Amino acid sequence: MAADQERSTKPRFITFEGGEGVGKSTQVRRLADRLAARGIAVVRTREPGGTPKAEAVRSFILQGKPESWGVGAEAVLFAAARLDHVNELIAPSLAAGKWVICDRFADSTRAYQGLTGGVDDKLIDALEHLALNGHTPDLTIILDMDPDIAFERVRQRALDDGMPALADRFEKEDLSFHRRLRDNFLAIAVANPGRCVVLSADTDEDTLAEAVWAALEDHFSDLPAERLAE
Ligand code: TMP
Repeated sequence: MAADQERSTKPRFITFEGGEGVGKSTQVRRLADRLAARGIAVVRTREPGGTPKAEAVRSFILQGKPESWGVGAEAVLFAAARLDHVNELIAPSLAAGKWVICDRFADSTRAYQGLTGGVDDKLIDALEHLALNGHTPDLTIILDMDPDIAFERVRQRALDDGMPALADRFEKEDLSFHRRLRDNFLAIAVANPGRCVVLSADTDEDTLAEAVWAALEDHFSDLPAERLAE
């Protein structure tokens, strides 16, 4: 859509959070498409990643290289990636009037490394303060699902895609980790009721996309109507 056809709305920063295999990436894409269809300029991004430097940190972390450094160092690395992402992409996009939809953000560090991994709250708070620099999301959608069901989905998807190695991904962290992770995301939602909405992800993609849209309508009163096909 040409820039002059884009609608000006107050730019919003929306994050999606949750455990593994809950369908975040699909819902991020669907929401970005739906907003774009309403003439809103949208930037779709993800964490860890989103900028060249943060993507470099992503591949370093996800290759398991810093595992031996300990979970505290991992939290610092996620925050370093986030600092670049906020400064180089998120803040400038919002300043330019664009909406930003991000697949995972600071709540993932709090849930994975902090509440579940045992990194001290004070370090997580300090890292969050440093990396966000005031850019708290306007809305965080937490997709919630029983990890046993999510596990089966991830495994099946990986097998369908011919990637048996990925099917083992959950086995690296046992299911009890993922159950605690789920509880901790729910605790973050309880602690931040104005910002977080929990949606059950144990449903089909279309139903979940409608629930996400309903959450936006609840949260923001100025969403433009869908454009008629031209
Ligand atoms: P993804 O699979 O959603 O792309 O996320 C990559 C992995 O990184 C996932 O296992 C969650 C983890 N992660 C953290 O542990 N802490 C963080 O701060 C972020 C953003 C992701």
